[in-house]
Amino acid sequence: MTVPEIRRIGVVGLGAMGAGIAQLAIEAGYETVGREVADELGDKALERVAHFLERKVDKEQMTGEAREAALARFSLTTDLTDFAECDLVIEAIVEDLDAKLALFAELESIVRPDAILATNTSALSVTEIASAVATPERVVGMHFFNPAPLMPLVEIVRAELSSDEALEAAYAVGERLGKRPIRCHDTPGFVVNRILIPLLNDCIRVLDEARISPGDLDTAMTAGAGWPMGPCALVDLVGIDVHVHASEALYKKLREPRIAPPPRIVAMKNAGLLGRKSGRGFYIY
Ligand code: 3HC
Repeated sequence: MTVPEIRRIGVVGLGAMGAGIAQLAIEAGYETVGREVADELGDKALERVAHFLERKVDKEQMTGEAREAALARFSLTTDLTDFAECDLVIEAIVEDLDAKLALFAELESIVRPDAILATNTSALSVTEIASAVATPERVVGMHFFNPAPLMPLVEIVRAELSSDEALEAAYAVGERLGKRPIRCHDTPGFVVNRILIPLLNDCIRVLDEARISPGDLDTAMTAGAGWPMGPCALVDLVGIDVHVHASEALYKKLREPRIAPPPRIVAMKNAGLLGRKSGRGFYIY
C-alpha cells in the first residue's frame, strides 16, 4: 500500500492519553485535529495541553513563540468528518471493543483511502479492531505510555494484516514525536503490559499478604527496586478502572491467575475510587 507523507494527524478521544498524544503531535510540528464528543471536553484537553506547554516555557525548555505556534497547530472538533484530510488518525477512546469497531468503520468512510489508522489500545487486539474496516492493511497499533508526553516508549504494533508501509510510517512518526519506538506483534498486552499488568497485580496482592500500607509498598519498590514511582501511585496515575479493564482483558486471553485483577482493586473500581482522576484511589489527591 502507498502511504502519504504524514503532515496532518487526527486524535480521537482527548482524555489523559489523547491529550498527551495531541500535545506531542503539535510540539513536533504536525497540524493536529482533536476530537471529543462534547465541546467542554475538548476545551478541557486544550487547557491541559496549554498548561503543560506553559510549564515548559517557565522552565525554559520551550520559547513562548514555540508554544504559541504549537497551540496554533491544534484544532478541536466534535465532528469526525473533520478528519477527512488527516494522513494519520490515532484513536484513544474508551477501551471498549464495540466502541472502537464502530469508530474505525466510521473513520474508514471519512478519511482518504491511503490514510493510516492507529489505535492506542492497551489490552485489546489490534487485529480485532482492524476487522471493522475493509482495508485492514492500513491499521496499526501505536501504544503510548502514561503520561504520554513524558514516557519515551511507543509500541508500534503489527496486526495480522498491517502493511509494512503503514507500520514503518507509524514508526517514523513515533521517532519524530521524540519517542523511542519499538516494533512488536499483536499479542495480548504487547510487550510492556504483558509484563507490567501481572507484576502490578502481584504488588496489590502483597499489600494484604504482607499487611502493609500503600505508602510502605511504594517505598519498598522505589527505595528497594529502583522504580521511578511505586506501584500504588502508578495504578492511581493510570486509573484504577483502566488497570482493572486491562487486567480482565488480558486474563481472558492468557488465563494466567496472576493477570486477574485482585478483588481489592475490583472493589475500588466498583466504589468509584479511580485514582488521580476521581481524586481518590490508593491515595487521596
Ligand atoms: N502531561 C504532560 N506533561 C506532564 C504530565 C502530563 N500528564 N505530567 C507532568 N508533566 C510535566 C509537568 O510540567 C512536570 O513539571 P512541573 O511539575 O514542573 O510542572 C514535568 O512534566 C515533570 O513532571 P514530574 O516532576 O512529575 O516528573 P518526574 O521526573 O517526577 O517523572 C514520571 C514523572 C515520568 C511519571 C515518572 O515518575 C515515571 O517514569 N513514572 C512511571 C510511569 C510509568 O510507568 N508509566 C507507564 C504506565 S503503564 C501504561 O501507561 C500502559 C497503559 O496501557 C495502561
